[in-house]
Amino acid sequence: MDVAVIGTGHVGLITAVSMATVGHRVVATDIDAEKIGLLTRGDAPFYEPGLEEALRSELGSGRLRFTDDAADAVGDAEVVFICVGTPPRADGEANLIAMERSATVIARHASRDPVVVEKSTVPAGTADRLRTTLLRESGGRVFEVVSNPEFLREGTALADSLHPDRIVVGAESDRGRAVLRRLYQPLTDRGCSLMETDIPTAELAKHASNAFLALKISFANALARISERAGADVTAVVDVMGADPRIGRAFLSAGLGYGGFCFPKDVAALERLAARLGYEFPLLREVAKLNDEAVDAVARKVEEALWNLDGKRVALLGLAFKPGTDDVRFSPALALARTLISAGAVVVAFDPRAAAGAKDELPDLEIAPDAYEAATGAHCVVLATEWEEFRNLDLVRLRSVMAYPVLVDGRNVFDPVDVVAAGLAYYPTGRPVRLQTAKPEARSGIAS
Ligand code: UDX
Repeated sequence: MDVAVIGTGHVGLITAVSMATVGHRVVATDIDAEKIGLLTRGDAPFYEPGLEEALRSELGSGRLRFTDDAADAVGDAEVVFICVGTPPRADGEANLIAMERSATVIARHASRDPVVVEKSTVPAGTADRLRTTLLRESGGRVFEVVSNPEFLREGTALADSLHPDRIVVGAESDRGRAVLRRLYQPLTDRGCSLMETDIPTAELAKHASNAFLALKISFANALARISERAGADVTAVVDVMGADPRIGRAFLSAGLGYGGFCFPKDVAALERLAARLGYEFPLLREVAKLNDEAVDAVARKVEEALWNLDGKRVALLGLAFKPGTDDVRFSPALALARTLISAGAVVVAFDPRAAAGAKDELPDLEIAPDAYEAATGAHCVVLATEWEEFRNLDLVRLRSVMAYPVLVDGRNVFDPVDVVAAGLAYYPTGRPVRLQTAKPEARSGIAS
């Protein structure tokens, strides 16, 4: 099928590449001409495993091209995906101006009566707005609008897009459903389930899924605070909970909390949507509050371990909002860095992918070329993003270059026994603090 994709961010670019991968002819467009230049040359504008290879291969196949001329992109399309950003406004509500602009372009330049697919995460009711704008701007043409929310995760986005748990299509007519069935047939043929709903249901299901996952994380973080006070181990508490299939273990890992461009904004947007519809949903405010507290709790641990932060050197391992991405938007690691810097600490960070983006956001950050360099002369190492390579760090070597032997684990990746055996005091999250056993010289005034 002929497919247009408006917006080449984390959702749009993955959608464009995966639609081309399954055999459709795709034209993707963006208002950022520089980005279109990069993409046309086969360079991915952000890091996502496997993306650049897939991008180059689809460009080579002739099934994928990019243009900064949106009219050109939508002109011959049978399906137009709207994948533009819906960033939060100051009040938490989603800013939908880019959606409106996309509708205007489609209304004025689409020649083949395309089905317009709302892929961006938007509040329930947005499809109606889109339809009205399309009708008005086209001078009275009725467009088919469907909601097809995206559930892909950064770091595994291509795989999620090509092998989704479920494809959700909210449509109001047989034509809309039929076109989307044909579009996704390459995926349903290999066993992916396609769930058809009405439009508000599909829109709400997306916000509900993200908010519920955020709620699970915040619940685990609240349990971490209680575990710290009760002498329990939150990792074991959630393992026990997760063994119950009604609960499930996924998204119950306590730590620095959630970040990224989806959870924080979607929790706020669902709360705002509910309020606008006359329903108070204070639980969602609590979810966000507990998430902020998760960062504060780790910052307090650093302070507890070092007594005063002023002038102390803190090595921060990880800056991305999660492993496998260079994305630092709403990253808890960056929030922690900000808190530590404002308390007077010097923060020297290392991240395998996200250092440049983080430095742009927070110029006071010092960047090191690897974890050991970051730790050199540090009074404390804080693990903030659980990149696989950090799990394999040589803790004895790490300890040997540090000024004080203190490890704060904001993601509970280390085995306490290994940390203590390496001569480090261990401050995990929601688990008992482990100070070094022997070595009185190491204990004095630092970790005891
Ligand atoms: C999320 C949804 O998972 C995806 O379906 C949706 O399409 C977009 O939003 P993403 O933002 O890429 O995807 O990240 P995700 O893997 O969900 O993690 C979100 C945040 O939660 C990360 O900061 C992660 O570190 C944190 N997290 C996750 C926890 O703190 N604990 C957990 O147990 C799981």
